[in-house]
Amino acid sequence: CGITAYRGPSAAASRARAALERLEYRGYDSAGVAARHPDGTRVHLRTLDGVAALAEPVGERAADATTAAIGHTRWATHGGVTESNAHPIEDCGGQLFIVHNGIVENADVLRAHLIAAGHRFASEVDSEVIVHLVEQAHRPGVGLGDALADAVTRLEGTWAVVALDTRTGALAATAHGSPLVFAEGDEGAYFASDVGAITPVVSAFRVLEDDDVVEVSAEGMRWHRAGGSCRPRGLWPVPKTALLSTKGRHRDHMGNEIDEQPLVAQRVVDALAPAITDGLLWRGLGLPPLDEIDRVAIIGCGTSLHAGRAIAGVFSRVGGLPTRALVASEAAHEVWEPRTLVIAISQSGETADVLRALQGLPAEHGTVLALTNNPSSSLARRADAVIDCLAGPEIGVAATKTFVAQVLTGVCVALSGLTVSHRADATLLDADVRALTATPEALSTARDTWRGPAATLAAEFARASGFLFLGRGAGLVYAAEGALKLKELSYRWAEHQPAGELKHGPLALVDAGTPVFIVDDGDPRLEVDIAEVTARGGRVIRLGERILRVGGLPLHLPRTGPSWGPLETVVPLQMFARELALRLHRDVDKPRNLAKSVTVS
Ligand code: G6P
Repeated sequence: CGITAYRGPSAAASRARAALERLEYRGYDSAGVAARHPDGTRVHLRTLDGVAALAEPVGERAADATTAAIGHTRWATHGGVTESNAHPIEDCGGQLFIVHNGIVENADVLRAHLIAAGHRFASEVDSEVIVHLVEQAHRPGVGLGDALADAVTRLEGTWAVVALDTRTGALAATAHGSPLVFAEGDEGAYFASDVGAITPVVSAFRVLEDDDVVEVSAEGMRWHRAGGSCRPRGLWPVPKTALLSTKGRHRDHMGNEIDEQPLVAQRVVDALAPAITDGLLWRGLGLPPLDEIDRVAIIGCGTSLHAGRAIAGVFSRVGGLPTRALVASEAAHEVWEPRTLVIAISQSGETADVLRALQGLPAEHGTVLALTNNPSSSLARRADAVIDCLAGPEIGVAATKTFVAQVLTGVCVALSGLTVSHRADATLLDADVRALTATPEALSTARDTWRGPAATLAAEFARASGFLFLGRGAGLVYAAEGALKLKELSYRWAEHQPAGELKHGPLALVDAGTPVFIVDDGDPRLEVDIAEVTARGGRVIRLGERILRVGGLPLHLPRTGPSWGPLETVVPLQMFARELALRLHRDVDKPRNLAKSVTVS
């Protein structure tokens, strides 16, 4: 979920709403705004049709006289996608409102207590207990900030909350395990889940530490903590990265983002490849020499996890370094060993599972490198070193260009560390550096070659109910990413498997016409895997192979690809998933049930 708030002379609701538009990547199940008119009357709007649908009822900025407002865009956890479950949520008296991002783990117990005390609940969401607790604590003589601070002492879980009192126009905010920033611009004060929401209107921001309480009222701004006052936290400059993104010649952002991949790859290679030599990039990040590291652990979720698996190949194949890619939500069960380099990958830098995984790291553990597309994100602020993957804004919920950018950025960092390490295999290292510079071209060829075939295949498989994606070695991760894209976009079942596992079970799924995508990394055993599929009538679509025709007969050559595998194969897989989804009339930029960054763990 994403939250915003504004207090200032006018246009509060429209400003909170505009900021909300930039947070829709956090969820789009529903959206809402609550605001106060100067005469003390309230505005309360909620919709299931996205933040844009609030524009008309909120009104033009010039006509909007509201002076304090809060906004919310929701990714549903507790309670269905209904208007009554949408935020902002009001108290019984209809004068206090809250927006919440996080999960209240003891909501059921609190709800029972509050109902017994006479509170009436109007929704199924866990967040509603917060507004009733604030209402209870907001007695005469108790300010909104103190009431909120009191209310959250009863909560277990995670939260970023902003409360609005429509009688006074006061705002109060606090956070615990969920991000929240505060900023003062020329025209008023803002709160937002992510500074990206208010980038166009402020130049610096402050980050709330856990349990800070910030109150903005007619008396000005007060920054405090339960049990005493504290000074406002330090100022961060707002990163003025590109604000605009286009759809190019496509009807959706995703199509354009797929097309941009060769360009993004070139940007990463141009910026980072020259600094690979002599470990310049590695040392510039302040990372310890690889000879002082015994193992690498890479954590991430979804597509970022796949990028991590590709990068892991460089450390292990070229550097002989034990490297694991860990599912962030499972990392709590890890036994962390000393001399481990942790690389946390997250496009948004806000994924709660990744942030939580880092909380489990012992303090003395060592260096955490964040690889992100958002250098001022919570992850970036938490890490010891940060590298920006330079993908530019990605709007499509299903990641495409950020995947390619993450893989190449991570590869550059790894190769840079390995150039001065005694473990690296010099021949492999050389081959990898050469392959890196050839990657933008390979991506561009893949894109141009597959435009037609991707659409043709989508037509052929429009009725297929399930898809298999197979690979071996370094190819497997792209098979996994292909299956993930297909699920996210088309809502069809897709499974990826190491090709060698096929005969141990998944082969039973293969029938006449079953689509089976093979990502070929040059492993000759794939020929047998393919034969097993075709023998059962399966339809094989093979990507990444190198074929030479000798006397009219295809000769499959062993591939000597880079240690991160055939990255360019992800392009046709993305294109196919998108084409199939469009054919099935799916919203490819906003797939159902998903959010670009999930900020609850
Ligand atoms: C969500 C998105 C995925 C994404 C994952 C990780 O689940 O739907 O597409 O890969 O989060 O996001 P991150 O911002 O951490 O890379």
